[in-house]
Amino acid sequence: MATLLQKLVILVTLLLMAICLHAFELQLHEQQLRQQTLDEQLRLQHQQQLLQQQREQQLQLRHSSTTSTRKPFVIPQGLSLPQRGINPPKCFREVPAVFFQYDKDVKIVGNSTVNQNFNVLEVCCKGWRRYEYDWSRCVPDCGEHCQENGFCLPGGRCQCFEDFVLNYRNNCVPTCPLGCPHGKCYLNGTCHCDKGYELDGSHRFCQPQCNSTCGHNEICIEPGKCVCAEGYARGLRESDALGCQPVCIPDCGYGHCVAPNQCECFPMYSKREGRSSCESNCYLRCENGFCANRTTCVCQNGYRYDLNTTSCLPDCGDDCENGVCISPGNCRCFNGYVRNRQRCEAVCDRGCGFYGRCIAPNVCGCAVVPGPLSSYQRCENGDCNAEGHCRCLVGKTRFIDMCMSPDTVTTYAAMNPPRVNASLMHEFDLLLGKHFRLGGVHMHDSAMWWV
Ligand SMILES: *[C@@H]1O[C@H](CO)[C@@H](O)[C@H](O)[C@H]1NC(C)=O
Ligand SMILES: *[C@@H]1O[C@H](CO)[C@@H](O)[C@H](O)[C@H]1NC(C)=O
Ligand SMILES: *[C@@H]1O[C@H](CO)[C@@H](O)[C@H](O)[C@H]1NC(C)=O
Ligand SMILES: *[C@@H]1O[C@H](CO)[C@@H](O)[C@H](O)[C@H]1NC(C)=O
Ligand SMILES: *[C@@H]1O[C@H](CO)[C@@H](O)[C@H](O)[C@H]1NC(C)=O
Ligand SMILES: *[C@@H]1O[C@H](CO)[C@@H](O)[C@H](O)[C@H]1NC(C)=O
Repeated sequence: MATLLQKLVILVTLLLMAICLHAFELQLHEQQLRQQTLDEQLRLQHQQQLLQQQREQQLQLRHSSTTSTRKPFVIPQGLSLPQRGINPPKCFREVPAVFFQYDKDVKIVGNSTVNQNFNVLEVCCKGWRRYEYDWSRCVPDCGEHCQENGFCLPGGRCQCFEDFVLNYRNNCVPTCPLGCPHGKCYLNGTCHCDKGYELDGSHRFCQPQCNSTCGHNEICIEPGKCVCAEGYARGLRESDALGCQPVCIPDCGYGHCVAPNQCECFPMYSKREGRSSCESNCYLRCENGFCANRTTCVCQNGYRYDLNTTSCLPDCGDDCENGVCISPGNCRCFNGYVRNRQRCEAVCDRGCGFYGRCIAPNVCGCAVVPGPLSSYQRCENGDCNAEGHCRCLVGKTRFIDMCMSPDTVTTYAAMNPPRVNASLMHEFDLLLGKHFRLGGVHMHDSAMWWV
């Protein structure tokens, strides 16, 4: 009986041990799985970052081929995600219709009911910006606050990811155990700061130490170095003694800048709705500028007054003849044109031969002697031969000033009489010009125009 009990006890113990072992194994396995998913997540994240970088590079390349090559300044933003149940209000804005023009010959008529030089666009309201993965949605905009390692919340608030805290420059910096910039981590989760840095009140990150306290509107950014706080700047030369002054963009016009982007108007002047500059009453729309008196709009730097929109439009100097100036100094070439140093130049896919010049997209201008463009013979879809005449590809036929397949000629002529007439007149004038200049044109020359 005793032995049976003994056996039973041993058996039960063994069984228990087996169960424990199994449970332990399970736990281990579970841990491994968790680690694996974590690794996988990290890997995916990294991959996405790489992809995003590649996409941005490609985008930059694409842009630089048609617009001027100024590299955009990209601020790494905190994560702004659309949140379920939150539908930010939509706002409307009138934008000059010319910004929507992509083809040189297709002028855009705007859909604003007030002024056809404007298009009405639905935009995200102030404090929100478009969500890059779904253009129809608006997400909170934190501007230059909340860079990386945090979520941008409505109202421009920044919520840092776990193990990150918001520092004195509105960035989410890592804390222990990930690390603490300018310091080392203790096991208990606080930092030990390097020389020249001190622990911030929260004991979670190191901030630079400036011996003498920084001036008004200044912050300490490096050991012993104070600079103007965000939204403030030191004035030029003579006003240097004033220290860091608030900056208002756009300019206050008839007013003082009393805080970053806050103007206080001189007597008799006021701000229009949604504007920050102080202006005179006026009849003009005067976007990107301010009204100096009833009939005068003074433009901001980089903008030029435009009669049609009674506003200031971006200025690209004289370099944007075949494109649209979309922001100061940034010219977007029309379709069929590419940026070549300072200008948008037409592209002729097959070249124009030694005696030709590309004068419009896929239109060569032919002449033996270089001269003003108007004296060139137009040659659409063809190139120029050594005599400075238009030459079509084999199988194409020339009709006045363009190359086309023979069976389309009659349709073209019937469908577009004014254009045919105009081209004919141009060619005729050129012919007369040649006649007077060269002192004699033979009939077979003119016959060649039709070959
Ligand atoms: C006006 O035109 C623009 C550009 O084509 C378009 O995006 C916008 O939706 C139009 N607005 C209205 C109210 O139709
Ligand atoms: C963390 O540990 C360090 C070094 O052991 C110690 O000096 C510090 O007071 C501790 N901080 C907290 C908040 O416990
Ligand atoms: C702070 O002041 C002390 C003594 O005045 C000096 O030795 C030290 O170099 C200063 N540190 C910085 C970062 O300016
Ligand atoms: C309006 O202001 C401009 C620029 O300050 C000035 O040249 C012009 O004479 C003024 N016109 C009137 C009617 O006051
Ligand atoms: C102003 O509008 C007229 C007529 O719509 C147009 O011919 C002209 O090119 C426009 N001027 C500018 C500078 O856009
Ligand atoms: C062609 O142009 C000429 C001169 O401008 C004009 O007299 C003639 O009526 C035009 N013909 C057609 C068919 O448009």
